[in-house]
Amino acid sequence: MNVWRLDAGAQTLAFAAEAGLPWVSYWGPRLPQDEDLDALAQAGALDLTGGMLDVLAPLSLCPEAGRSFSGQPGLVLADAGAPVFHFDRAEAKAGEIVFHARAGGLQLRHRIRAEATGVFTLQTTLDSDAPLRVIWLAAPVLPASQLADEMLDVSGKWSREFHLNRVAWTPGIRAREARTGRSGHEHPPYLILPERGCTNGAGAAYGLHYAWSGGHRMVAEELPDGRRQVQFGHATGAEAVGTSFASAELIAVYSGAGLNGVGQAFQHDLRDRVVCWPDARRPRPVHYNCWEAIYFKHNLSDLTAIADRAAALGAERFVLDDGWFGRRDDDTSSLGDWVMDRHKWPEGLHPLIAHVHGLGMSFGLWFEPEMVNPDSDLYRAHPDWRLGPADQVTGRHQMVLNMARPEVRAHLFAAISAILSEYPIDYIKWDHNRLLPVVDADQTLGVYALFDALRAAHPKVEIESCASGGGRIDAGILARTQRVWLSDSNDALERLRMQHDAALFLPSAITGSHVGPRHCHTSGRVLPMAFRAWVAAQRHMGFEMDPRELTEAEAEELTAVTAWYKANRAWMMAGTIHRLDASDPAMIAEMQIAADGSCFVVFAGQAEVSMQILPRPLRLTGLEPLARYRIRLRNVSDKPPQSRGPLALKTKSLVLTGATLMAAGINLPVAWPATMWVVEAERL
Ligand code: GLA
Repeated sequence: MNVWRLDAGAQTLAFAAEAGLPWVSYWGPRLPQDEDLDALAQAGALDLTGGMLDVLAPLSLCPEAGRSFSGQPGLVLADAGAPVFHFDRAEAKAGEIVFHARAGGLQLRHRIRAEATGVFTLQTTLDSDAPLRVIWLAAPVLPASQLADEMLDVSGKWSREFHLNRVAWTPGIRAREARTGRSGHEHPPYLILPERGCTNGAGAAYGLHYAWSGGHRMVAEELPDGRRQVQFGHATGAEAVGTSFASAELIAVYSGAGLNGVGQAFQHDLRDRVVCWPDARRPRPVHYNCWEAIYFKHNLSDLTAIADRAAALGAERFVLDDGWFGRRDDDTSSLGDWVMDRHKWPEGLHPLIAHVHGLGMSFGLWFEPEMVNPDSDLYRAHPDWRLGPADQVTGRHQMVLNMARPEVRAHLFAAISAILSEYPIDYIKWDHNRLLPVVDADQTLGVYALFDALRAAHPKVEIESCASGGGRIDAGILARTQRVWLSDSNDALERLRMQHDAALFLPSAITGSHVGPRHCHTSGRVLPMAFRAWVAAQRHMGFEMDPRELTEAEAEELTAVTAWYKANRAWMMAGTIHRLDASDPAMIAEMQIAADGSCFVVFAGQAEVSMQILPRPLRLTGLEPLARYRIRLRNVSDKPPQSRGPLALKTKSLVLTGATLMAAGINLPVAWPATMWVVEAERL
């Protein structure tokens, strides 16, 4: 038997192979260095009983129908039957193994890499001597723990992204497929497999993230014999004929420290490996985005007045949203015509940008490159550039350009590059508001190529991934962008929950969060400024209301919280978000801990009215038990008039050990819903 192991951070993957394809003989906490991998693989061999074949088909890196594997196979070919692969060789070097296998004219490769950030990345490629059609090619298949009762996946919709679903493991398949041509609001490509008893702060969990923006399929299967497997691959339905195929990378992490261990690894990996920062040392600037202030009604005098106020509140980057190009007075026309609308901008953007720069802010601009309105000069000139049939149903009055065509990409590159060259722009908000009419991996590869070309030509420009809010958030797009627009909902209560759940995957530094208009445009709610401001300050902060609507008191409040964000962002954005297991379900709480552990902040959001009269203690996590921390409540003035007890944190700071803070917790004042308690702490 051949055996191998890879270690990444706190986890180990071990493999074994005989004649057929290699299989994962172990995935879990890091094994002792001298573990006998041969014995480990042998110990994993299972018994047989009645009603079974005489050999248990291996759950290999690509389970094979040709070897009588009766579950979901890892490879499905359209016309070539079910090949039987033979292990060929493994190329192992520090931190990486590539397994090669053959079946006739087919070469299958599984590349598994231990990343410095503590995660594994896994990718499958298939090459063929003769053209063939691949229906399904899974990234290397991992066994799933049988000590789990449920899995945790993510669903959502426009304005309510990142909803965690707890789904029971049952015999058979749970399949989820994102078929809208983007990673999607509906089924973003994430899965967590918590073992029994796992909480945010303790227990074992396995996390998976498929790094692909074009739609994916996930299969979590419990076989009749009890074994479990998880497969991720591209969405089916776009099977081109070819000789070379590849899955995207699957990012995998084991945590022995609860869901937070998964979150910590994913946050760290996205921020420090996947995302390419034009200037990693530059603090994440406070944004102003004009969308919900003015929509398509652009004019210089309003926008300069807005810019004045945004800068006074503390904004550092001004983003001009949709409405500056073609004849874009509403969402029915002009996508594709990336030239200045001279009716709105007779002198182009120069006067606005000069004004914005004069206020000390940088300038960003909205594009939706992959899209075209039938009512546009581009579509009139090139109707054949659209993706899908002419008689398709439009979405938001728009169609999608066929990004697999080099001439389409060349045109878009030239048009966007011309704007980026004419104007000093340091940021693009890159939107994607229509579902694709067909599932097509080449579309995604074309989109990636356009991103890559623009980034190479304009390396200092940061890009935000927006797709009607959070419709395209995945490690594929994040390899090309630096921020995601989590949701079009600027409702701080909604955002509080979404940010909490998204923290299992996304770091603070890339997660945009804005203070929206007083009357929320997506929910109709009116929430206090203090709450709206603190929720935005939990992530990459920005504003998106017309600042002329703010009362003096609101402006003061927002300015103060923005100043707090600026004073703390350096360590927060480089630190880790830990979700707290609040004992009160009315509370959504997290900690952000500095990378060196020297300070932390607790954000405890009262999302609704509690069932019990007084707040329950909130246990902290992730601290050094023996260290002493000075904690103080930053915003005691947000307490309601009914709060009248002698609670210590209302009047003074406290010094307590990490052990006490984690075991006894902290007691906070009573709070009305839509209050965010902010507890700051330093290690003494
Ligand atoms: C989408 C985005 C919004 C905004 C509009 C502009 O809905 O999610 O933030 O940019 O498009 O049309």
